[in-house]
Amino acid sequence: MEYFTTTSKASRRAADCIIVGIYARNKLSTGAADIDSASKGHLTALMKSGDLSSAPGRCKILTAVPGVRSKRIAVVGLGKTSKLDGTVFKKAVAAAIHALDGSKTRQVLNTLTLEAVSGCDPYYLARHSVETMGDTLYRFTEMKSGRKKKPMPLSRYGHSIAKRGDAAKAARGAEHGDAIADGVRLAKDLGNLPANVCTPSYLARVAKKMATGNGKLTTKILNEAEMKRLGMGSLLSVTAGTAEPAKLIVMQYKGAGSDKPVVLVGKGVTFDTGGISLKPGPAMDEMKYDMCGAAGVIGTMAAIAKMKLPINVNVVVPAVENMPGSTATKPGDIVKSMSGQTIEVLNTDAEGRLILCDALTYSRRFKPAAIIDVATLTGACVIALGAHRTAIMSNSDKLREEIFAAGDAAEDRGWPMPLGDEYSAQLKSNFADMANIGGPGGGAVTAGCFLGKFTDGMDWAHLDIAGTAWKSGAKKGGSGRPVPMLSQVLLARCGALP
Ligand code: BES
Ligand code: MN
Ligand code: ZN
Repeated sequence: MEYFTTTSKASRRAADCIIVGIYARNKLSTGAADIDSASKGHLTALMKSGDLSSAPGRCKILTAVPGVRSKRIAVVGLGKTSKLDGTVFKKAVAAAIHALDGSKTRQVLNTLTLEAVSGCDPYYLARHSVETMGDTLYRFTEMKSGRKKKPMPLSRYGHSIAKRGDAAKAARGAEHGDAIADGVRLAKDLGNLPANVCTPSYLARVAKKMATGNGKLTTKILNEAEMKRLGMGSLLSVTAGTAEPAKLIVMQYKGAGSDKPVVLVGKGVTFDTGGISLKPGPAMDEMKYDMCGAAGVIGTMAAIAKMKLPINVNVVVPAVENMPGSTATKPGDIVKSMSGQTIEVLNTDAEGRLILCDALTYSRRFKPAAIIDVATLTGACVIALGAHRTAIMSNSDKLREEIFAAGDAAEDRGWPMPLGDEYSAQLKSNFADMANIGGPGGGAVTAGCFLGKFTDGMDWAHLDIAGTAWKSGAKKGGSGRPVPMLSQVLLARCGALP
């Protein structure tokens, strides 16, 4: 895809499509006003006859508009002028791209980037525009046989800017948006792939392949024997019931010499049956998404590498399949983690924390500037926050606030949840140093507290993406979250934002 910026008038551009907007009370966006005057009131007339909606999410494609050079004009609703923010902006762009999909549109100019959008400068408008395009055109057709419907052949995507001085910002926004969209696409693909394809070995191969030909990126894979030597008894207890070999994937991106790295740890349970504490049947297929933490951190790594950011980032993915079987871990079994702490496995379905704790201990060797783990960790988190926000827990107020702000800026939002001794006490075990479950109340928090027992002395945050990593129902599919949020944290940390 080629991106461009332009200060020229929309009516004079010979694009395949120009995106313009209308607000409530029949107010035209800057681009729409230009098209309206060039066409001698074509849009005003349509508005008056009730043929154009100003509701966000609505779009009408007009063809053969008199006096303008573009083949199509996509008129999207922008809602109330005072309510136009990044979220509405993205919704409007999505409506236009969705309406165009299926047409033979190759070149699009988006003039909505001229609007006053609260909280967004030309950098964010171009970035959200490009990310939204990627999101809207995404299809997962890899596993379908037969002829596949082609997406629209878009090859040039432009953004209007008010003045030359905004060009560099908007161009950088488009470049970053493009890289983040790539990361999101990869995360969605990995999530959507079925568990008989996307195994721990498959994830390891993807991570290996990413590093080939990239001088800044290396990938190392540890096998079960190596993990055993490191003392990862907790991680290995989860893989005990399956024939699929577990992998520990370690990626290192060096963009900033000897700086301490930010370490991203992603839960990579390629299928979670629950183990001996077997899950109920309905919707169990969705547990193929239990590796979305891994997909999120690998996707973020892809985005960071594409942007060539001046920062050091390591990714650590414990990848396992959680299955019942004659060799599987049983409720009541006690395992020893790499940290030396022992764990009574009261429920084999609380497996995410069992693999993450050893990955967190392993990550100490990198002396992280900050360590963030990402996991589809608890059903309780879905109850607490639903599908809208990712739970953010941290032993550092500063880090939690940093991630929260990054989520807002990236339109990939989180919400703080507590940690604390009173919750931690719920993990007491009669027989081991701790149990792997904390009883009925506060399940998302007690899971976070469990991880907190392995992160002493590190600046650590935990993201529970159980509600946000994929959508259920008719539009079932990976969301690519939290790639935008994590990318934003890293962009801000290395000063790459304008
Ligand atoms: N992967 C699940 C969490 C999950 C469930 C995510 C549903 C998204 C939707 C996790 O491994 C799990 O099973 N957690 C248990 C923990 C419990 C046994 C303490 C849960 O949430 O039920
Ligand atoms: Mn589970
Ligand atoms: Zn799980």
